[in-house]
This record gives sequence, structure tokens and C-alpha cells, in this order.
Amino acid sequence: MDVAASPTSGPATPAGPDSAWMLREAEQFIELFYGEGNGQGGPAARMAEIRAEVAGTGTYTHTVDELAFGARVAWRNSNRCIGRLYWRSLWVRDRRDISDAAGIGTESVKHLVEAGGGGRIRPTITVFAPDRPDAPGPHIHNEQLIRYAGYPQPDGTVLGDPRNVGVTELALRRGWRGAGTRFDVLPLVIETARDGIELFELPPEAVLEVELSHPRYPWFAGLGLRWHAVPVISAMNLEIGGIRYPAAPFNGWYMGTEIGARNLGDTDRYDLLPVVAAKMALDTSSNATLWRDRALVELNVAVLHSFDRAGVKITDHHTESNRFITHLEREEEAGRTCPTDWSWIVPPVSGSATLVFHRYYDDADLRPNYLRRECPVEGGPDRT
Ligand code: ARG
Repeated sequence: MDVAASPTSGPATPAGPDSAWMLREAEQFIELFYGEGNGQGGPAARMAEIRAEVAGTGTYTHTVDELAFGARVAWRNSNRCIGRLYWRSLWVRDRRDISDAAGIGTESVKHLVEAGGGGRIRPTITVFAPDRPDAPGPHIHNEQLIRYAGYPQPDGTVLGDPRNVGVTELALRRGWRGAGTRFDVLPLVIETARDGIELFELPPEAVLEVELSHPRYPWFAGLGLRWHAVPVISAMNLEIGGIRYPAAPFNGWYMGTEIGARNLGDTDRYDLLPVVAAKMALDTSSNATLWRDRALVELNVAVLHSFDRAGVKITDHHTESNRFITHLEREEEAGRTCPTDWSWIVPPVSGSATLVFHRYYDDADLRPNYLRRECPVEGGPDRT
């Protein structure tokens, strides 16, 4: 293998990255770890240990502190995330001893309950077994722990979330049956080297949801819309110092526009702007009446209002933009670059009314990081 082109994404492979690449990555990570004031002694002694372990086993084991630091810095390095101000507060659940589907399902339920906090959402990651040269780690096919099924209809439309048609088909083929609503929570689709794909149904207590209503439009509640409270990304690899953790679900709390603009508004998702515009009796005869824009704003008002009323933590895009600028300034003061992808950081509504719109950013591909797995399900989504 060409060491310069070692894998940073793609499905878990039994071979794993070669050890020269792993040692170089480990060295950079261990230097960062000690350089930021962690650990006892110095990086040299720790690297000697790691070299010996890699020589003997083809891989090495992070200490608990290295794992926690790595997971937090991976968040800090996530160039698409506007919510990074709180990267130090990520709560790390070390479950590296778990690699079977039942264990992953059970611990994912605990993650959802603990991170959800009944609405007091806490940024949390659960780290399951890493890839090893002799055995790939387990992975979760669902892009998030909670996702709504999408069922293609004979007329070409999709009942539910079109984004999840692929994983829904996978579950249906394995014998799962949903209730057939627009908001059926999918089972976890977990794959392990030993047992292949297994399904794990989430119990209701793991699935905190918010029913959507609007502060001024009584008809809005009648649309029967809802969304889940905790977005737990489950289909990205956590990569730390050359070690890949393919099952490491993590969450923050929602920014309203993710739901109100994208999930409910995008034409290839729930496509609700025409529905809301009709209820608002807007003039939809021309693009220039800006009926889409007006419907979009009210949809977003409904999301923020409903979460707030339900006591579920959520943030708006103005607040989050300001926080992100604070984060940038802190990173600059610490002498670090803050990798940032403008096209992901600027909110999908009212971009120019937020601070983050009006500047350029450094973007850099740093490690540790959360790396996109090759499309977890054929034909499935590729943007989180
Ligand atoms: N945009 C994704 C969704 O709507 C969630 C991505 C992560 N978001 C977050 N606030 N941590 O489900």
C-alpha cells in the first residue's frame, strides 16, 4: 500500500492501515496530546510503548485520557460544525470492550437516554471497539441512531423521510415492519465481522420527540409534524492517531434550521413549504411573492417554539453564529487554526443576517477527526 494514500474513509477493512502510517499518525497525535498539557512524563516514553505494541500486535490501545482528548479534538477539528464552542465539554463513554450487536444496541439506548437528559441534552460520544488488523470493528449503518423510515410509494413519492430509503429497505429485507407513518423510527442496523448484519429495535424511552406547533397558527399542530430531540451521528469513523473507531456515535443538540429549513423544507426531504404556504394562504402564483421564504421562516419559528415549550434544548442560528465567532477567537488566541467550511457553517436561512456569513475561513483537514464513511447504504445519503 502507498503509505501516503492510506485510507481515511471507506468501510472497515480487516487489513487496516499499515503500521508505518499508523506510527506516523500516532506520533503526531501523542505530540499534540502532551503539547496541550495532558499526560504524565513526555511523549517519548509513550511513543516507545506504542511502537512496541504496534510491533507486537499491529495496533495499539489509547489510554482513557488519550481517547477522551482525541474525541474532543476530533470535534474541534470538524470544519462543518458551527457548534464547536463547547468541544471541551464532550462527555466520552468508553465502551471499547463492546463489539457485538446486542451490546451496541443496549449501549446506544443508554447513550440516547443519558445524552437526552429528558431534554437537557448533553454532547456525548460512545466509543465502541476499534478496527484491528485481525478484526474490523463493528459499525452502524444508520446515519443517526434515530432516523425515520422512508417508504417509496407507487406514484414515485416517498412516505416518511426520503433520505432513509436505503436503510429502510435494508431493514425491511431483514424482516422489520414499520407502522407505515411518516415518522416510523428505524431499528438500528448493526454490522459486525462475526455475525454480519443484525437489527436492534429502539425502545420508546430511548426516543425523545417533540410534536410541532406554532405560536400564532393554531392549524400548524394539525399538520401532525414531529422531530426527534437528539441528533446522534452514527455513521462516521472517529480517527485518532492512526486508530479508527468505526462505531462511535456522537451528539450535540439541534440548531433549529437543521430541522425547520433542511429536514422539513428541502424538496428531497419532507418538502413541506408548499403545504405550509397553502395553510398560510400565501400567493404561490409566482416565485417573486417569496412564498417559500415566508413559509420557511414560519416553519423555523414552529421548530424553535415547540422544542422550547417541550423543555428540549435547541439553539437558533443567530445565537449559534455568535458562539462560533467566539470559538474562532478563542482558537486564534490559543494559536490554533480553526478549520472551517463556509458552505456548511453559514445557516440555510438568513445567512447574511448572521456574523459567520461575512468573512473567509481557513480550512484544513486535521486529525483527530470524524470522517465520513463511504455511503453506509447503497444509494443512501451523503450529507449529514
Ligand atoms: N443535520 C442533521 C439532522 O438534521 C444533524 C447533524 C448534527 N447536528 C447537530 N446539531 N449536532 O439531523
